[in-house]
Amino acid sequence: MPVMVFDHPLIKHKIAILRSKDTPMKEFRELVEEITLVMSYEAFKDAPTQKVTVETPLETCEQEMVAERSIAIVPILRAGLGMVNGVHKIFPNARVGHIGMYRDEETAIPHEYYCKLPEGIENMSVILLDPMLATGGSACDAIALLKNRGVKNISFMAIIGCPEGIKKVSEEHPDVKVFVSTCDRCLNENCYILPGLGDAGDRLFGTK
Ligand code: PRP
Ligand code: URA
Repeated sequence: MPVMVFDHPLIKHKIAILRSKDTPMKEFRELVEEITLVMSYEAFKDAPTQKVTVETPLETCEQEMVAERSIAIVPILRAGLGMVNGVHKIFPNARVGHIGMYRDEETAIPHEYYCKLPEGIENMSVILLDPMLATGGSACDAIALLKNRGVKNISFMAIIGCPEGIKKVSEEHPDVKVFVSTCDRCLNENCYILPGLGDAGDRLFGTK
């Protein structure tokens, strides 16, 4: 499956502001939402549609709408929550599941602490949301969890990725489509992305 890296001036512009250590929490949250909204146009390109009949003021016509209960978004808590509204702004009917994961601060190994998924998720296209794809451990574990629940069609959408994380996800889950708005240089010794934007969860929720 191809990895799509967005190369668009408007996204680059927003990411430059997002990265700055001087960007305050409110603006940071708004930017995460806006970038997610723009990325969603591409991530939803293969969304299943169904035929509907619409009466315009002039005549009746056949149209297409996104099929009922066909798409679920699944933010990886905490930081993935910041992306949910961005998708809901363009597709408010997306069902939402939640997977809670935190990285051990010493080892960067992810630990799952919560999971609640919509009924029938195995028959939906699922888009996992997390602004940061660093080692790829959290993404890979969340994808494996969805596969264990029978989900067959999975995409992963992150705002900032890096070669290490993209490689891990592509190798462990070659069937998963990966969307990142930018691919950064590398990880530092603490498994933070460089140049990155710091800790996405802390910046979204003001916890530091
Ligand atoms: C961050 C981020 C990802 C993960 C990425 O979450 O939101 O979930 O790290 O790193 P990885 O690719 O190396 O797994 P964190 O574990 O810090 O939890 P938080 O969202 O609660 O802050
Ligand atoms: N999680 C973050 O929030 N930022 C990083 O750079 C890496 C993991």
